[in-house]
Amino acid sequence: MTAGAALASDSEGVTILHENGEGKAANPGRSPMYSMQAFLEGKLKLEEFARSEEERPTVPHNVFDETLPIIDIGALKDGTPEERANNVAIMLEAAKSWGFFKITNHGVPLEVVKQVEVNGKEFFALPMERKLLVRAPDFVFGYTGGSPLTWKSKWWLEGLMIKVTDDALDELVAQVYPDEGEFAARFKKDLKSFFSPMHELSRFIVEELTQALGLERDSFTRLESPNSNCTGRMNHYPVCTDPDVVLGIPPHADTQMLGILYQDDVGGLQVLKDDEWVGIKPDDSTFVVNIGDTFQAVSNGILRSSPHRAVVNAKKDRYSTIYFYGIDNTITLTVPTELVTEDRPLKYRPFTVSEHRKYIVDNEAPLHSARHLLIDPQAT
Ligand SMILES: [Fe+2]
Repeated sequence: MTAGAALASDSEGVTILHENGEGKAANPGRSPMYSMQAFLEGKLKLEEFARSEEERPTVPHNVFDETLPIIDIGALKDGTPEERANNVAIMLEAAKSWGFFKITNHGVPLEVVKQVEVNGKEFFALPMERKLLVRAPDFVFGYTGGSPLTWKSKWWLEGLMIKVTDDALDELVAQVYPDEGEFAARFKKDLKSFFSPMHELSRFIVEELTQALGLERDSFTRLESPNSNCTGRMNHYPVCTDPDVVLGIPPHADTQMLGILYQDDVGGLQVLKDDEWVGIKPDDSTFVVNIGDTFQAVSNGILRSSPHRAVVNAKKDRYSTIYFYGIDNTITLTVPTELVTEDRPLKYRPFTVSEHRKYIVDNEAPLHSARHLLIDPQAT
């Protein structure tokens, strides 16, 4: 395989040929990707990333709303009954109204977080031909120099999608540092030191929310399996000389149960709250949690999977690291009967995570969220 071309197939077995951003889709109807790659290699101009007037960012990267609730995980775990009840109530309300909240006292040491960020920066600084070798056969995992969905979406970012299992991490580090055993060992160790506690943290938050909904704590987490959609991701948003016309990631909702994000001090993550784009202020002591489509659907729409996006800036590259927590891809999920009442009739039909993800990818409809899973798709 040459540096500029990668043959890969997505998790649904669709094969795509990528060629330096100017490739042709091997199957009609699907587009090649690597848009950022093409820009970095001088094959695309910034103007080609320009969004339509309606899509362009309206809020700069460094304007923030500071009312996003902050949940004290330490108080949830070891606090007094009153502290616990208070934090649970705030978290549940935030998950319903924002679909987002911050967490503090989460127990993941800052030096572990920062080391993973350093590793990410080192990875993204590698020559493009090295990064392009970091591909898994299932297309979803590995390096992408742009959107994982479509060439036309023109995301101003590059990313590394990481399957967090021992075998997958071995494969990843062997691809990133084939001749540098010391780097490879450190890279893997650092990723595990970060993503293992992030997994436990995700599971804990899902269980707290599940219990707060009036269900048994493990109603959803017991559906974890080797087929679960648990994934790590590193994002790099390069500086852009005209940040007002492009988007790092256009508005979308996440498909999994839950995501936990650490962002550096630059700023750029924005969530749609009450039809307004709201910037989430970075700070080293907190992570940002968001509810995904799967959790929204299995909670009968009580929890909210909110559209969010990333804007870029002209001064500083931005880096973020995310852990996505998912449950089994193939089990048919249904809304627990406890969440169906006269006031809140059943809204979501049975579905599988893989079916949902396939719909989003095939229809290139990231903003569509879980609407196609509604029993009445016209309902809001
Ligand atoms: Fe997202």
